[in-house]
Order: sequence, then C-alpha cells, then structure tokens
Amino acid sequence: APIQPPDLTQCQKAALPPGSNPKCCLPVPTKTTDFQFDQSLPMRVRMAAHLVDAAYIAKYNRAYELLRALPADDPRTYLQQAAVHCAFCESAYLQKNTSEKLQIHFSWLFFPWHRWYLYFHERILAKMLNDDTFALPFWNWDNQSVVSPLANLIPAAYIENASLVDNTRNPSHQPPTLVDLTYSGKEGGLDPEKQRAENNNVMHQEVVSGARTPSLFFGQAYRAGDANTPGPGSVERAPHTAIHVWTGGDMGNFATAGKDALFYAHHTNVDRLWNVWKSLGGRRKDISDPDWLSTEFVFYDENATLVKVKVADALSTEKLSYTYQNVDNPWITHSP
Ligand code: C2O
Repeated sequence: APIQPPDLTQCQKAALPPGSNPKCCLPVPTKTTDFQFDQSLPMRVRMAAHLVDAAYIAKYNRAYELLRALPADDPRTYLQQAAVHCAFCESAYLQKNTSEKLQIHFSWLFFPWHRWYLYFHERILAKMLNDDTFALPFWNWDNQSVVSPLANLIPAAYIENASLVDNTRNPSHQPPTLVDLTYSGKEGGLDPEKQRAENNNVMHQEVVSGARTPSLFFGQAYRAGDANTPGPGSVERAPHTAIHVWTGGDMGNFATAGKDALFYAHHTNVDRLWNVWKSLGGRRKDISDPDWLSTEFVFYDENATLVKVKVADALSTEKLSYTYQNVDNPWITHSP
C-alpha cells in the first residue's frame, strides 16, 4: 500500500544538532485541502542561476526578505520552510497508523517529494512578490563547459545578496573553486581540467550509464509500513549528496539544509535532471507501481493552507506550469 501523509498533531522529538528547532514540527492545520492544478497560472521558466540578470536577483532577494519578515508561526516563513525539510528528513513524524519513522530520503520518494516541496516554496515566494510569473533559479552544477565557466561555482547571487547568503558554508569552497561531484569531506586537490572531467564522469555515470532503469534512478520501493531508507537512487546518492557536503555548513545537514537559500537552487537542478533523464529514452520512464503513484504528502501552500498532494500529480512539470531554461548537458555524450 502507498505511504500516507503523517498526522501533523503527532510530532516526534527528532534528534537534532544543538541550536536548531528541537523538534522541527510543522504547525497543526485547521483544515486540509486536496491539490488541484491551477490552469490560470502562467508558464514559469526556471533559469540557470549564473545566467539571471540583476533585476531578477534583486527581486529574488526581496522575496526572501519578505519571507524572513513573516511572523515566526506562519508556515510560509523562512525558518518554517526550512523546518519542512527537517521534519521529513529527521523523522519528526511516524508513518500514519504505524510505528515506523517517516523519512523521504534514500528511497523512491526522493524525487517527487522534493518536486512538491520546491513547487510550494516557489509559489510562496511568488505570493510574497505578488508575481505569479516568479520562478526559482537552478544551480547548474552539472555543467562543466568552459564556455559557461560560472555554472559549476556557487552562483554569485548567493554570495552577494544579504537574504541569499549563508555564512556557514565551507569558506574554502567559494568561487573560483569548482564543485567536486565526488566530494565526501576530503579535498580532491585536482586541477580544474581534471576536476571538470571527473565531474562529467560522475554525471554520465549517475544519469546515463548507471541509471538505465527506474529503480536505479529513483531508488528503492518504500511502502506503507516499511522501515525507512530502503536505498537511494543514483543521483540522490552521488552528485546530490556531494553538493550538500561540499557546500557545507547548513547545507551539509538534513536538519538545517533548508535554511540556506542555495538549497532550493541545488534541488531545482536535481529536479531538472529528472526531466533530462526521462528524455534519454530506453527504460528511463517514471515508475508505474501504484504504490508510488498514490503516495501522498502534505505541504503548506502560498495561502498557508495545508494541501494534500500525490506523486502521480508530480510527473509533469508542464502540468505544474513550470519548465526549465534549455541548457546543454554535455555529460550525456561524455565518455570517460
Ligand atoms: Cu532533502 Cu538535498 O535533500
């Protein structure tokens, strides 16, 4: 059977690092509505973060200022948004009617849960700006092309803007240090050319050659009553985790990752890779198992209403009225 949303009145004490909200519990809702596609929304285009213009960055920074200024108990405020990630990654809730802790990482729920999380986060930022065309950017860290030399660095917008910067990041990974998609805590010390080649190898391996089937890409099945963390898919395990650890600080920890605005640009890129992977053909298709398709989650929307969503409604970004700027993915044809 599919996993159901937890009872938000029953928040467990999660074991969290000192200084964080000790429980990362979400506000208890007064009502829950079912998600409906909003056909009146304009198609939003998520742009590469190293390519957006100054006007966009000013607006994006402003959206976070407004988010931070909301009252602390508003489910849309900056810290409450971060708590959403913490809650579903540090097992703040049990799976409904079971004694199993709910954790949406390291399983086939990783891609759809984060897609929904970003969807509502983006809608909340749009609401702050009163601009339905607002779209999050994506951090194009997979792009090693020397023609786009800024893609695989921390994007400037997240360093230069007060509401987008996070001072806990690893100080030695600031630009012009290239991302290391194999990073697990130790400096590789490769020269830039070798680092680019290594990053391309990782991308080709985790999205193309090593992800020929849905289960390799999405991760292991996770159903009602199952113990959590059955096993991650290729992208979650490798480049996704490497970017968290490489960025460091808040980003390096489930409980705090959502506190860094860069988190959302990291995950829009992961989300974009889901679309890229599906476009590669062969057996690279969404999972057809009804337990995956009928899995449900809850999120607070832009009006602070709790909305119940299902995986089946997350499969098409077009249906959710957003798309990604077309960028080259040279690692698709890269041969190690
Ligand atoms: Cu919810 Cu990048 O992890």
